[in-house]
Amino acid sequence: MSQTHNQLDVDFVRKCFPTFDTPLAAKTAFFENAGGSYVAAPVLDKLMTFYQHNKVQPYGYSDILNAAGEQMDAGRQTMADLLGVDSTTVTLGPSTTQNINTLAFACASLVCKDSEVIVTDQDHEANIGAWQRLCERTGATLKIWPVDPDNGELDINKFMQLLTPATALVCMTHSSNIIGTINPVEAVISHCRPQGTRVVVDGVSYAPHQWPDIPTLQPDAYCFSTYKTYATHLGVMFTSADFTSQLDPQCHFFNQSYPQKTLDGAGPDHASIAALDGLGDYFDNSYNHHFGQSAISLYEKTQAVSSLMHAHESELCETLLTEIADLPIRIVGRTNHHGREANIAIASDRCTSEDMSKALARQDIAAGHGHFYALRLLQKVGIKDPEDGVLRISFAHYNTNDDVERVIAVLKSVLQK
Ligand SMILES: Cc1ncc(COP(=O)(O)O)c(C=O)c1O
Repeated sequence: MSQTHNQLDVDFVRKCFPTFDTPLAAKTAFFENAGGSYVAAPVLDKLMTFYQHNKVQPYGYSDILNAAGEQMDAGRQTMADLLGVDSTTVTLGPSTTQNINTLAFACASLVCKDSEVIVTDQDHEANIGAWQRLCERTGATLKIWPVDPDNGELDINKFMQLLTPATALVCMTHSSNIIGTINPVEAVISHCRPQGTRVVVDGVSYAPHQWPDIPTLQPDAYCFSTYKTYATHLGVMFTSADFTSQLDPQCHFFNQSYPQKTLDGAGPDHASIAALDGLGDYFDNSYNHHFGQSAISLYEKTQAVSSLMHAHESELCETLLTEIADLPIRIVGRTNHHGREANIAIASDRCTSEDMSKALARQDIAAGHGHFYALRLLQKVGIKDPEDGVLRISFAHYNTNDDVERVIAVLKSVLQK
């Protein structure tokens, strides 16, 4: 019989990730989640089923071909259901970098030399470089929404100074993969919508912590990567029907009448698409475990489960931030858990980020260092050597209090000397 929980049941969650039963993962406190998460069991099951039973060209006259096609369709439909959107608005590509680059090419007719495109200094390069290159190709002006050099945050007032009637596109991250602060995407969209400015949101760093609520947010485009949301290595890109209809197709000419293929310039891995169906099972099972059976939609279930995940991570995040507050370190970003994701960037004058990362690794704690492709952000907040960069401790909902205590112990022993 199912039991209802108002907190995330972490024991239940960890049992849903077979990686924890492997020797290396069993001894590791894993805080490299922003680089890529572990994969939920139902996703692995669907991946295995596809490879074992019907890894063949989808659809045709044979049953085996049809089974392959149906599994892929199920994966795509499940992703749409998880997001609460129509499946024709979802592009599945090999990665977010690829998807955004394709989108930037598709925006060529929307910008001209009199247009302006706003990007931020806070973003991963995937959501800056593609737009910079678009501006170089079209003669449009690239405007940079600068970060606060003290904490790396974006101020909406600075954005308002940049927005003009000529702004064609605003490209921003929902939360940074370095500082974790949740950005005012709703406010940006509400200022842009009346004048027809398109807003492209990079949710790669946000989605693993809080499942995106696209029906509420209503962005023009929203991208994230499923290899960081407990599934296979793909990029998911939502584009609204209205936006898609204005884009230059990037697919084969004979596929142009299918909106979901318009921005598919790459032909992503079939098995990875089929396996997305398992992510639906993961959220569905988690909902049933925590809240009991219900006839509500998968989108609503996922939002509910995601709230529990976020609350759990926030609690762990607060413990870490409180315990390391007195160490000789700089936390790049907020020093408490409010308004941020549990993705913490640390730098210290006492010890390189590389040495902190190595000290953690010696105690079987995985947490990387560097600029994590947000090189411009690290330069703007004054990190002297961006290659050494910051130590990044990025959580997932399967992390435990014990994992956090281990990190605290190592950081104290290394930095209090
Ligand atoms: C915030 C952010 N945006 C974009 C990307 C690029 O995603 P992908 O690896 O799927 O290209 C990453 C990857 O780490 C990221 O953290």
